[in-house]
Amino acid sequence: MNQEYDRIQALIKEAEEKAINGDECLFRNGFHIMPPTGWLNDPNGLCQINGEYHLFFQYSPLDARGGMKAWGHYVTKDFVNLTYLGAPFVPDEEFDKNGVYSGSSFVDSDGMHIFYTGNVKLPGDHDYTYSGRRADTVLVESKDGRSFTEKKVVIDTDEYPEGYSCHIRDPKVWKEKDTYYMVLGARTSKDEGRILVYRSSDMKSWKLTCEVGSKEKFGYMWECPDYFKLGDAHVISFSPQGLEDEEFRYQNIYQSGYVLIDESPADCDSMTIDEDKFIEWDMGFDFYAPQTFLDESGRRIIVGWAGMPDAKYSNGEVKPENWQHCFTVPRELKAGIGKDGVMRVFQNPIKEIDTLRSGEPVKIVDSDNKYLSKDGLVDIVCDGISGAFSVTIDDAVVFSYDKDIIKLTLNDDYGFGRNIRKAKINDINSLRILVDSSIIEYYINDGEMVFTTRFYKKEKSVKTVFDMKASEITVYPMNRMTIS
Ligand code: FRU
Repeated sequence: MNQEYDRIQALIKEAEEKAINGDECLFRNGFHIMPPTGWLNDPNGLCQINGEYHLFFQYSPLDARGGMKAWGHYVTKDFVNLTYLGAPFVPDEEFDKNGVYSGSSFVDSDGMHIFYTGNVKLPGDHDYTYSGRRADTVLVESKDGRSFTEKKVVIDTDEYPEGYSCHIRDPKVWKEKDTYYMVLGARTSKDEGRILVYRSSDMKSWKLTCEVGSKEKFGYMWECPDYFKLGDAHVISFSPQGLEDEEFRYQNIYQSGYVLIDESPADCDSMTIDEDKFIEWDMGFDFYAPQTFLDESGRRIIVGWAGMPDAKYSNGEVKPENWQHCFTVPRELKAGIGKDGVMRVFQNPIKEIDTLRSGEPVKIVDSDNKYLSKDGLVDIVCDGISGAFSVTIDDAVVFSYDKDIIKLTLNDDYGFGRNIRKAKINDINSLRILVDSSIIEYYINDGEMVFTTRFYKKEKSVKTVFDMKASEITVYPMNRMTIS
């Protein structure tokens, strides 16, 4: 802690005291994590320790349009009651003065080990891609997730390998046998996306052990890499930038997805992944830079940033409520076989989300195929679907399926530039829709495919109209999480 820490904390306190939070906010969500005020992007440092979940996030509290990057911090035992613990890591050191960038937590028997990238822009005439940027990997430790040791640089920028641009960042750590491994996202000096893999026996001194690339060029930068096992499957996840958009794939400016690989990068000197096997985590407008973690009960949980950097669409007029962006709900991951016969990762809201269901569930019947929610928070479960269908919210957000094609369409009033996203799927039997104040998540076929979008309604209530043949459609009104 130094003077700069105190100065930044005072500014954050002042901004958070002015946070606009009450009933007058049309868009503050009920069960999606948002910044107390200002801007949020990537989920960081997700972990569980002593029964408590820690959810950190990229946080720019002073400006809802972004700016100074710190880490904000929520804790929860149940994802229903959350406590905000402030911004423990702020850019107060020489080696992170232009941003405490993204990173992860690794929980070992002696506590939490948090790794992040210290972003520094050097003075001078630089482009900050090929020159002028430092990106040290920094370690902070904690026994209880509440008090933290001093920040310590564990990989200096000058130690990164030759042939890379200044864009190397976003450490994610795991352990195999007695060795720790770290992935870092990278851009080569020839503008190819890569993942660097480091190894360590003590989490303090790290050695490069493997470089992961693709058969053909697959974008110019891979952000926020992650590696984990799901049953017997090896999953490598990253957020590539610079892919060409196609009719049914890669429709956003940047992507995030995964490839199922044959072995752990820990076992290789170099690895070439087959980019043709890249599967997007989410087919909607707002999903980027996800991170996974293993909880104490052995669940592999993913949380995405329900946002998209540099997108043409916006989040409406953020000024009145003075905040921007949120997370997706935490999703439990399982490997399974998709309708196309190909193995993939299924995502479903963690079961804690079900505990927010309140009041009497309502069954939708053919003779009355609508549901009006006064406060606009619902969890909708459609089972035994057959054939083409559409589900329409406020005549403005249409989710439809016909002839193997799913379409999510928003009108401009609600979408602020979000128009259409499409995907192909052989068959749809089930659909779950989580509707919160300004975000909708669609889970298809038990989580085989997901679409996430932000939306901006005109009043609190939300009307949903079902044009669908299904054995059962149930609407559960939802409560709000409590945040203290
Ligand atoms: C992804 C990202 C990361 C970086 C962070 C900065 O959204 O660009 O690569 O660490 O955001 O906020």
